[in-house]
Amino acid sequence: MKINNIAYRTIWPDPDNRQTIKIIDQRHLPHKLVIEDLNNVNDFAAAIAEMHVRGAGLIGATAGFGMYSAILAADNDNVDVVLKEAAEKLIATRPTATNLSWAVARQLAAVKTGHDLAEMTSIMFDTACQIADEDADYCRRLGEHGLEVIRKLSEQKNGEPVNILTHCNAGWLAFVDYGSATAPIYAAHREGIKVHVWVDETRPWLQGAKLTAWELNEEGVPHTLVADNTGGHLMQHGLVDMVIVGTDRTTYTGDVANKIGTYLKALAAKDNDVPFYVALPSSTFDWQIRDGVKEIPIEERSGDEIKYVSGITESDLIETVRIAPETTATANYAFDVTPARLVTGLITERGVCAANEEEVLKLYPEKKPS
Ligand code: MRU
Repeated sequence: MKINNIAYRTIWPDPDNRQTIKIIDQRHLPHKLVIEDLNNVNDFAAAIAEMHVRGAGLIGATAGFGMYSAILAADNDNVDVVLKEAAEKLIATRPTATNLSWAVARQLAAVKTGHDLAEMTSIMFDTACQIADEDADYCRRLGEHGLEVIRKLSEQKNGEPVNILTHCNAGWLAFVDYGSATAPIYAAHREGIKVHVWVDETRPWLQGAKLTAWELNEEGVPHTLVADNTGGHLMQHGLVDMVIVGTDRTTYTGDVANKIGTYLKALAAKDNDVPFYVALPSSTFDWQIRDGVKEIPIEERSGDEIKYVSGITESDLIETVRIAPETTATANYAFDVTPARLVTGLITERGVCAANEEEVLKLYPEKKPS
C-alpha cells in the first residue's frame, strides 16, 4: 500500500545487504515514519514483543525472517542448537497470534532439506520471503472475496455508502500488505463502491486511532474515529451495515480471538442483526484446537499501557502522560474470544464460509483429520 504515494510493504530485506531486514517501526505512527533495521534474532524478538511490528500476519512474517537471521550467526557445529534457541525465543514473544509458531515451524521444516550451512541459509531466506509474499497474496485474494459481500450490501442500499465498523488494526500494517479486514474495503473503494468506515479507537494501545485511521487516510477511504464504546449505539440506530474485523487466531471450529473488545462488538451486532465478518488468511487458523474460549492463550501485557498514553503536542513533541492514579491496579488482557455462533462468516483467501467446522473444512479439505 502507499505512504505519500510511494508503495511500501511492512517488512522487506535490505536490497543492498540481505543480512539486514527492514521494518516500519509502528510505535511512531501516525506522527513519524521510522524505518528500522533488524540484524539479529534479538532485534527480531524485541521488535515483536515491544510491538514495533504487530498484527498476526506481520508477526508471522517477522518470525520467518527472524529464523533466517538466526542461522546467519550459526556455524556447522552449532546450527541445530542456534535454531532451536531462536525458535524458543521468538515463540515466547507473544502467545496469541498463531502465525508466529506457524512461521517458525515452517522454517524449521524447510531448513531440514538443506545439505550444508550455505544451502540451509539460502533455503531460510527464500522461505522467509515466501511467507511474506504469500501473506500479501492471500490478503489480496481474501479482499476480492470480501469485496463481493460489500458489493451486495451496496446494491441493497442503491449505491448509498456501506457503513463498516472495524476494531483494532487489521490493515496492511498488521500484515505484509493489503490487510485482512481492510482488504475488502480497499478493493471496494478502488472499484468506486461507496464505503465509510467506523474506526474504533481500540484502547489501550490505540491501534484504531493511530494506525487504522492513518492507513485509511493515506488511501483516501472515508472514515470516522469513534470511542471504543460507541459501536452498540451506532448499530441500534442503523448506522452500521456490517462489521469486519481481523483475528489473531481462529479455531477450525470458527471461534475467533481478536483484540480485546471484539466480543462486545459481536454481541451488539447479533442483537441488532448486523452481519459480523472476520477476515483471515489461512495462516491464522489453528487446526489443533476446537474450543477457542477455553484453549486460546490470551496475552496479558503491562498495565502501563492502560495507565499511560502518548501523543503529539502542539509543538510537535511526542509526549507520554499518566492518566490514572499511580498506585491503581490494572489488568491488561490483550485479546478476547468471540464464539463462532456470533460470527456471520469467515472471509479467507479461498472464499467466504460460515464459521463452523464443516464449512471451514470444505474450503480446506486437506486439513481434515484422517
Ligand atoms: O496486539 P496487536 O496489535 O498485535 O493485535 C493484533 C491486532 O492488530 C488485532 O487483534 C487485529 O484485529 C488482528 S491481527 C490481524
